[in-house]
Amino acid sequence: MIHNNVAKILKSEGIFSQEVALKGWVRTFRSNRFIALNDGSTIHNIQCVINFEETSEEILKRINTGAAISIKGILAESLGRGQSVEVQVSEIEILGDSNPDEYPIQPKKHSFEFLRENAHLRVRTNTFSAVMRVRSKLSFAVHQYFQERDFNYVNTPIVTGSDAEGAGEMFRVTTFKDNEAPVTKDGKIDFSKDFFGKETNLTVSGQLEAETFAMALGKAYTFGPTFRAENSNTTRHLAEFWMIEPEVAFMDLDGNMDLAEDFIKYVIAYILEKCEADLAFLDQRLTQEEKSKPQAERSEMSLLDKLKFVVENNFKRVSYTEAIDILRNSKPNKKKKFQYPINEWGADLQSEHERFLVEKHFKCPVILFDYPANIKAFYMRLNDDGKTVRAMDVLFPGIGEIVGGSQREERYDVLVNKMKALGIEEEELWWYLDLRKFGTAVHSGFGLGFERLVQFTTGMNNIKDVIPFPRTPQNANF
Ligand code: 4AD
Ligand code: MG
Repeated sequence: MIHNNVAKILKSEGIFSQEVALKGWVRTFRSNRFIALNDGSTIHNIQCVINFEETSEEILKRINTGAAISIKGILAESLGRGQSVEVQVSEIEILGDSNPDEYPIQPKKHSFEFLRENAHLRVRTNTFSAVMRVRSKLSFAVHQYFQERDFNYVNTPIVTGSDAEGAGEMFRVTTFKDNEAPVTKDGKIDFSKDFFGKETNLTVSGQLEAETFAMALGKAYTFGPTFRAENSNTTRHLAEFWMIEPEVAFMDLDGNMDLAEDFIKYVIAYILEKCEADLAFLDQRLTQEEKSKPQAERSEMSLLDKLKFVVENNFKRVSYTEAIDILRNSKPNKKKKFQYPINEWGADLQSEHERFLVEKHFKCPVILFDYPANIKAFYMRLNDDGKTVRAMDVLFPGIGEIVGGSQREERYDVLVNKMKALGIEEEELWWYLDLRKFGTAVHSGFGLGFERLVQFTTGMNNIKDVIPFPRTPQNANF
């Protein structure tokens, strides 16, 4: 008995007549004979044919959808449709029953809303098991990409004492009990008496700490959870999401754009190679879903075509100023179709604008750079024009912003002045400023939202469906 999972069995050659032992869950049971068994190793079920006469009535009754079973048998060529191999079962044992009247995951199409309410079981479905296997492979590819290029993986803190990023509302971390928080003379909460002796929150980004590593180890990257208490219930926002943040010393914005593009292409090429069966399934799923949409809203490319397109084509690099010109003169702007009309230079871009540029105008991934200073974070390097910063956003079809990054302000005086202008206290970021005092150098980095990458690669419409247990406003179940 050599094989122990379905994926391996289906891949190996010359397998017929061998004895196998498998454990998994029943997906369906037909005609008191055919079990579709899934063990999670692949999207494919293996058909297990039981000997009806030799199997007791009691066992037959317990072969229900969702039950955990163990089987032994011989691999044989299958005459059935849709599979080449089946197991002629000689022994079957029910390991864990599943009451068919109570088990929520029936062999039929369930809505994603229903499955979100059953997130503990939804990974037993084809769609979610495929998404989660792709997610797992993608996260390995992320590490492989950076490790192969001598980046150091840095674990930045999750509890943070500074809100330097200004990337959004934060979740407070405290040990004060209900209504018992001590107050100062002027009536404010006295955080000096809290656990850490200061106000602390869950981090929105590991960037500032990652910079300290780049300025010592040269190349660093984070890959960890980040938290934003934004009250935006969209298909692209989570309150808890995973972010990948590389940071590189002696690299300017052009190098940063090259890195982001190369990195994204690498991880997508990786899963195209490693997740063939899952992507083929997800491709079909999306094609089916698209058919239910009005013609005008359907995507021109299938999922696999989109993934290959990204790997094979250059991303278009466009300055913010050029993008504003394009948007200002665009049809939807003139016809007042944008919810936020673009009237002048300096406007912040909304996802409707990003998606217009990517999906309608350029029809390829776009990197926008050199944004107005006042719509971007304090740490981005000021250009000589005094009004734009060396920022970049990578925009993707169907997603909008997938990456945000910049060349960092490495000049001490310029950074201090910027912080003063924005009311960011120097005492809070003394350590960040130290990097500009001792051996400062040009450096750059970016943040890629991991779930947005998984969304793009799996073709899932809602970000809640690409993370095991989504955290969003009014929802922290499981
Ligand atoms: O553009 P952001 O806010 O950039 C930063 O946090 C920088 N510190 C990154 C850096 O330069 N090291 O976030 C980076 C990316 C976004 O492009 C987006 O893909 C993702 O993080 N993101 C979210 N993903 C899911 N849910 C949310 N609420 C997200 N907010 C940002
Ligand atoms: Mg951003």
